[in-house]
Amino acid sequence: MVVFHVIILVGMPSSTLSSMQQQVPAMFVFGDSLSDPGNNNNYKTLAKANTVPNGIDFPYGVTGRFCNGATIADHLGYLLGIELIPACNDPRTTGSTLLRGVNFASSSGGILNDTGAKFGQNIPMSKQVELFGEKILPELKSLMENSNVEESAANSFEHFVAKSLIFSSIGNDDLINNYLSRFGNPLNKPIPPHFWDSVIIAYSNQLKFRRTTEFDPIVYSFDHGPGPVFLYINLPQGVRGHL
Ligand SMILES: *[C@@H]1O[C@H](CO)[C@@H](O)[C@H](O)[C@H]1NC(C)=O
Repeated sequence: MVVFHVIILVGMPSSTLSSMQQQVPAMFVFGDSLSDPGNNNNYKTLAKANTVPNGIDFPYGVTGRFCNGATIADHLGYLLGIELIPACNDPRTTGSTLLRGVNFASSSGGILNDTGAKFGQNIPMSKQVELFGEKILPELKSLMENSNVEESAANSFEHFVAKSLIFSSIGNDDLINNYLSRFGNPLNKPIPPHFWDSVIIAYSNQLKFRRTTEFDPIVYSFDHGPGPVFLYINLPQGVRGHL
């Protein structure tokens, strides 16, 4: 989501980062500006936040996050004892860095490919899922299979993927920067009569990757933005009791 919403989040003290035992092997984040860690920084778009005052209370300063401190995805990571999840468009996000997980969230991006396009380039949800399934997972698989760690079920790629957390929070921009907005609706196309049905169908299809990766999803709907937020979390068994 961009332009219409200011997020005020209190910066987490950096000591929090390592104070907790890690609860999941990794976290993979899908979403819009509410979770974007700076994936749009090098895109031609108005939907980026790599300038002050964003980041003024963040231990790493200006990163492209649309807020003064940490995003909700960062906070969730801290609570689970995971260090900051790297941005998929950061060139350093490769090799062993992937083992913490990857954040694909992109400001102005939506469930529909057109959403937010008038601001410029973004990574729509369909593309975020594609990057996860076709680029990151294969890279992780070969990384783990070629590592020196002793082969066992507990440190297999399948176990790693099945126990990792998937966090997806997206849909604000489909409302604000597509459905409601002539500015956000890229080609000023008329809104089709079953717009929200198509959003739900697209999102269901995008989340089908769980079927091939043994994710066991829980779907939550909760409100942390002005639009309909579709939140999908894959929670490993042990963590469920804490919510
Ligand atoms: C959205 O973009 C993806 C490519 O990232 C493509 O596979 C898909 O068909 C597109 N969906 C629509 C409805 O155009």
